Amino acid sequence: MKIIGTGRAHPAFTLTNSMLEDILDTSNEWIMERTGITQRQIITDEKLEDLAAEAARQALDDAGLTAKDIDLLICSNVVNEYATPSLGCVVEGLIGAECPTYDINAACSGFVYALSMAEAYLRSGMFRRILILCAEEPTRMVSWQDRSTCVLFGDAAGAVVVTAGDEMKAIRITATPKRDVLRYERMLQPTPYITKSESDVPLVMNGREVFKTAVTSSIADVKGVLSDSGVDKDEVKYYILHQANVRIIEAIREHFKQPAEKFPRNVDKYGNTSSASIPVMLDEMSRKGCFKRGDKLVLSAFGAGFTTAACLIEWAK
Ligand code: UT7
Repeated sequence: MKIIGTGRAHPAFTLTNSMLEDILDTSNEWIMERTGITQRQIITDEKLEDLAAEAARQALDDAGLTAKDIDLLICSNVVNEYATPSLGCVVEGLIGAECPTYDINAACSGFVYALSMAEAYLRSGMFRRILILCAEEPTRMVSWQDRSTCVLFGDAAGAVVVTAGDEMKAIRITATPKRDVLRYERMLQPTPYITKSESDVPLVMNGREVFKTAVTSSIADVKGVLSDSGVDKDEVKYYILHQANVRIIEAIREHFKQPAEKFPRNVDKYGNTSSASIPVMLDEMSRKGCFKRGDKLVLSAFGAGFTTAACLIEWAK
């Protein structure tokens, strides 16, 4: 598998920490110190499907392809306004693709999970050109009265186009049942026969537990893909980690004793954009000219589930 195009889209509205001070018992200092976030782009009157379509079009343009050239669209999404049809189907209509599509929900690990699926399809020869699209609006899952969660998130879409190649050197995906540390419960339609109690609860998170699990599992995953690929940690050009909290990124960086510039961050300006965070970072860095062909990149993510995923790729563009 190799990545041949990237794209991204962000909502127009910038919500700064000082704006949050007006609606919550919080402070810019607390948010900065505990998370590294200064602002986030959040959905107002946009629709997630339009951001997703924009990211997809950019990735296709970057790859020199049109929507009709795509054999499969894998869409990573936790919530959007439709439970069905899939967001993939909605976006397909917007961009004019004519291929099978489905959504996956591996929470913030969704991008690397989707890469692992694409790798298997490409190896089998079943599909030749796959669009991976991660489109997320976590700001619609949190309570805006809950200062411990709503300050953390932002909305975004990120996309890549992948095709057959030898650039995926190692990939690992894991899941452990830990519903209590991070969950969002939605109320389903009642029926005349439902007798159990049900609740509609915004995102609930045990932040400290997520923090600890994220650091230990990401370190294990990164060690795993380094050892599977036979690459030394110093040979890696960039460690592109899920952008949730600069303290999590720092803890992982310190463990591997790597310089700060190898662990790029954009959580300061976008917040945690769930599975969109890694493809957004790839697109941002690619367009800034940060990557050269053959650069070794480690991608590593963690999320609700608890899911984790990491891979080691060589840059192919
Ligand atoms: O994609 C995965 C998504 N989730 C994550 O990645 C979350 C991982 N965890 C974290 O990033 C951190 O645990 C948080 C940023 C969520 C919290 O940081 P912390 O250093 O673990 O703080 P804490 O939860 O231990 O809370 C410390 C204090 C508490 O007050 P008391 O009980 O000590 O009086 C909180 O009530 O900070 C308070 N607090 C706040 N204060 C001001 C919590 N949120 C806020 C806030 N502003 N926004």
